[in-house]
Amino acid sequence: MTRTIFVTTALPYANGSFHIGHIMEYIQADIWVRSMRMAGHTVHFVGADDAHGAPIMLKAESEGITPQELVARYAAERPRYLDGFQIKFDHWHSTDSPENVALSQDIYTSLKSAGFISSRSVEQFYDPVKGMFLPDRYIKGECPTCHAKDQYGDACESCGAVYSPTELIEPYSTLTHAKPVLKSSEHFFFKLSDPRCVEFLQEWTAGDNRRGKKRLQAEVLAKTREWLGTGKEGSEANLADWDISRDAPYFGIEIPDAPGKYFYVWLDAPVGYLASFKAYCDKQGLDFGALLDPAGETEQVHFIGKDIVYFHALFWPAMLKFSGRKTPDGLHVHGFITVSGEKMSKSRGTGISPLRYLEVGMDPEWLRYYIAAKLNSHVEDLDFNPDDFVARVNSDLVGKYVNIASRAANFISKYFDGELGYVGDATALSSDIAAVVAEVQADFEAREYGRAIRRLMAYADTVNQAFDAAQPWVLAKGLTPDDERRAALQDICSRALAGFKALSVMLTPILPALTARVARDLFGDAAAYRWQDASALPARIEKFKHLMQRVEPSMLDALFEPPAAAVPTPGGEAIADVIDIKDFAKVDLRIARIVACEAVEGSDKLLRLTLDAGEGRHRQVFSGIKASYSPEDLTGKLTVLVANLAPRKMRFGVSEGMVLAASHADEKSHPGIYILEPWPGAEPGMRIS
Ligand code: MSP
Ligand code: ZN
Repeated sequence: MTRTIFVTTALPYANGSFHIGHIMEYIQADIWVRSMRMAGHTVHFVGADDAHGAPIMLKAESEGITPQELVARYAAERPRYLDGFQIKFDHWHSTDSPENVALSQDIYTSLKSAGFISSRSVEQFYDPVKGMFLPDRYIKGECPTCHAKDQYGDACESCGAVYSPTELIEPYSTLTHAKPVLKSSEHFFFKLSDPRCVEFLQEWTAGDNRRGKKRLQAEVLAKTREWLGTGKEGSEANLADWDISRDAPYFGIEIPDAPGKYFYVWLDAPVGYLASFKAYCDKQGLDFGALLDPAGETEQVHFIGKDIVYFHALFWPAMLKFSGRKTPDGLHVHGFITVSGEKMSKSRGTGISPLRYLEVGMDPEWLRYYIAAKLNSHVEDLDFNPDDFVARVNSDLVGKYVNIASRAANFISKYFDGELGYVGDATALSSDIAAVVAEVQADFEAREYGRAIRRLMAYADTVNQAFDAAQPWVLAKGLTPDDERRAALQDICSRALAGFKALSVMLTPILPALTARVARDLFGDAAAYRWQDASALPARIEKFKHLMQRVEPSMLDALFEPPAAAVPTPGGEAIADVIDIKDFAKVDLRIARIVACEAVEGSDKLLRLTLDAGEGRHRQVFSGIKASYSPEDLTGKLTVLVANLAPRKMRFGVSEGMVLAASHADEKSHPGIYILEPWPGAEPGMRIS
């Protein structure tokens, strides 16, 4: 029976470029969508920018543009990432759209008439200079617990204490440095504490969907049980009503009949799923209302990260339910991607740059494969490890998979003019393939991509082993046109190629471009693969064409290197924003002696420095100065070390600081990098200020 499935991924905030975490989520969802389509199901897969909220408004303001212009700028670059990684949404929309205004206001109005909206006055910090209420992250002050300075309004980064902004000592607005004042204003609340809501959520979170499957992964259910108070004996539901309004100035959607009040961004953000689907339906002539009829057959699933479960497992189903709409059939929650074990920070945007990945000429399907190999159906973090990446791609994809075709196809082209032929009963081969494929297909549906890959690579091993055991190169030696060994040779190679075709079908959700080339160029199949194609044995092949390159480890070096500045300005780049002496004092610069220096094997940019900064121990620091200095130039010299830089894991080890060096921003036109050396008399450990 074919199914109709409405699939979304979380809507990214529209004040930044995609990072590797976004791309990972889209790859996970895209693989699932492709695998479901290969089974003949109808899938509608949409995304959108999450455009609203205070951070976007303030960022636009600081750049002197409108929030719409800011959002448009990021929207314009989205296709480069999505096309680049073969992520195929049917439609991409924005929460700042007429569809979203209409749907959000409609949902709110329905909730209100059903008695789920209340209002009361709330006292909050207000910036009297800026004339706006301050979200917690725009308030800083001294921690009430450990007295660390400059801590955010909700939690202390120094001692971990959690508090409300009003508890901060000497609070100030980060926007104007003004002292915030308390001011009250009317706020609207979604009554999550309403017994109808609690009862519904207990059922919805624990229950099965229309396919008889649990709506939530076990670990996600456990979390919601904590929140809903059904986790421990005698515990009570402990849901606070949800504040869904914000005061002007705010970039958002106006609340009906409440002048100057806007929906909090997290109210209209998930409604953006529906808005995007609505816009898509309108464009395609599909019936949005019928497709999302609460009594209808469409399945609705949301791919999201573990950090936004609360919004999707509590607020969102309750909003939909009590506004009379269809509720989700499943949440597909994933963990976070780290890079070499390091967490990415949203604000600092470290990690791997997806565009850089493409620019250095790395194959997007390598990343799709690597991420898929590390994904399962649980909420587990996964790590991008450069060495592991190189090893996996080269040994699995090139060494095991592509290798089958490159070896077997040459015999078939050379001796049989492309014709395949099987000796004896080939139905057993076909049913063996069907059995593996059925399991792999089920793994994809269950989002057990790593298991699917282990299974299909085990199958690739058996294909390779059978091929090697039969020693076709021995059979082919001195083969004459009427040699009786011909049939055996053709059979061995044909079976290998049938295996290769099956593997290609199984890899299609992950490697859509490569397998489309296999289908078209090697097997002459016109249409994209479906699951059932795997066990149809191929009858002929075209000449084998090169399919996939190996990963060069040097590509990983290029990936982790910061790109050169694009626009050369006098001196290379503009002078940075003004800082005060307190900002400068945060940087601890020390004289250090280079006690040892050596080239780093496998890197054409880096030198490994062993530094003595007068600490009674040595530090290891990597520096991209190999082009300008040889190790013996530097050994024994003094230089300048940034001594309090957070240690950074690199491909070759941890770098405990950074040495200062001068270079032009445009390395291409002005090559050369020059490290600093102090005047005579300076000694290791002296501070530079
Ligand atoms: N705008 C909200 C979502 C609204 S959905 C109605 C938001 N945006 S986000 O840009 O911060 O995150 C978008 C998605 O990226 C989320 O699912 C989030 O979990 C995911 N990721 C952010 N960092 C990630 C990793 N390091 N790894 C994997 N996914 C991560 O939240
Ligand atoms: Zn503290």
